[in-house]
Amino acid sequence: MSIQLRVMNEGDLDQAFVLTQQLKWPHRRADWQQALQLGEGVAAERDGELIGTALCWRWGRDYATLGLVIVADAAQGKGIGQQLMQSVLDTLADSNVRLHATEAGKGLYEKLGFVAIGKVQQHQCRELGGIIAELPAAGQQLRDAQANDAERLTLLDHQAHGQYRPQLIAELLSHAERVRVLEQDGDIAGFACVRRFGHGYSIGPIIAHSLPQAILLVSQSLSDLSGQFVRIDTDAVSGLGEWLSAQGLVAVDAPTIMVKGTPWQPVAGGTQVFGLMTQAMG
Ligand SMILES: CC(C)(COP(=O)(O)OP(=O)(O)OC[C@H]1O[C@@H](n2cnc3c(N)ncnc32)[C@H](O)[C@@H]1OP(=O)(O)O)[C@@H](O)C(=O)NCCC(=O)NCCS
Repeated sequence: MSIQLRVMNEGDLDQAFVLTQQLKWPHRRADWQQALQLGEGVAAERDGELIGTALCWRWGRDYATLGLVIVADAAQGKGIGQQLMQSVLDTLADSNVRLHATEAGKGLYEKLGFVAIGKVQQHQCRELGGIIAELPAAGQQLRDAQANDAERLTLLDHQAHGQYRPQLIAELLSHAERVRVLEQDGDIAGFACVRRFGHGYSIGPIIAHSLPQAILLVSQSLSDLSGQFVRIDTDAVSGLGEWLSAQGLVAVDAPTIMVKGTPWQPVAGGTQVFGLMTQAMG
C-alpha cells in the first residue's frame, strides 16, 4: 500500500502519542498537543495509520527548530524518514535550522546537510531530594512573572539563541506551573520556567546572563519540587550540568546539537541558554 505524506493535524495526536510510547519516549498526549499548537508537522500515513511524523517550529524569519522525527519501527529503512525531513525542510526555505539528534537520527541528518556543533545533556531524577534554594545577592530580586513581562522575556530569550519566540513565551506565561524571573538592579535579567512534561516536571527554558544567575533560578525552582520527577536539558558546555549532577539530577542521555545553516553567535554580554524548552522545540 502506498505511503502518503500530508500536513499533520489534531486528529493525528492519539496515534502520534502511540509512536512515542513505542519508543519509550516520555511525552504525554498533552506534550504532543502543545508541540503541534506551537509548530507544524508532516505526517506519513499508510492505510489510514500514522507511521511517521516530523515537526518544526518557526521562530521568526531566520531561525527554526525541528524535532519529533519518528518512523514506526516496522516502516524504518524505507526512505520515509528522509521524505518526512525533506518535506519539512522545503517549508523552511532559508531558515537556519537546529535540531537535537538521537544516535538513530544522526546519520539521516548528516545526509541532509546538518552539521554537529555540540551536545545537549539530559539531566533528570525520579524523586528529587530536598534542594536548598540559593538566596539572591544584593541588588537581586526573584518574583513570579506577570503577563506584562512577555515582551522583556521574549527579548532575553531571543538574545540567547536568535530564535524569536513570542508565541512560546505567551504560552508559558498562561499555562506553565511557574515562571520565575530574576531582577538585577530593577531590570529582568533572566527567567526559569517550571512545566509539567513527560513523567513529571521539566525546568526550561532557563535564560540568564551567567551561571550563578542560572543556579539561583534553578535552585529556587527545584526547592518547590521535592519528591517529584524532574528533568532539565542543558547544553553540555553551559556549566549547569555539573551543578545538576551534584544535586542528584544525573545525565541520562546526550543528544547531538546539529545545525543546517549558520549557527547563532551569542551577543557579547547578552543572555545565554541554560535550559531548553524541550529537545524537540529547542
Ligand atoms: C531516525 C528515523 C526517523 C529514520 O527513519 P527511516 O525511515 O528509517 O530513515 P530512512 O529510511 O529515510 O533513511 C534515510 C537515510 O538515512 C540513512 N540512515 C538512517 N538511519 C541511519 C543511521 N542510524 N545511521 C546512518 N545512516 C542512517 C539511511 O541509510 C538512508 O540513507 P540512504 O537513502 O542513502 O540509504 C528512524 O530510525 C526513527 O524513527 N528512529 C527512532 C526515533 C528517533 O530516534 N528519531 C530521531 C529523533 S532526533
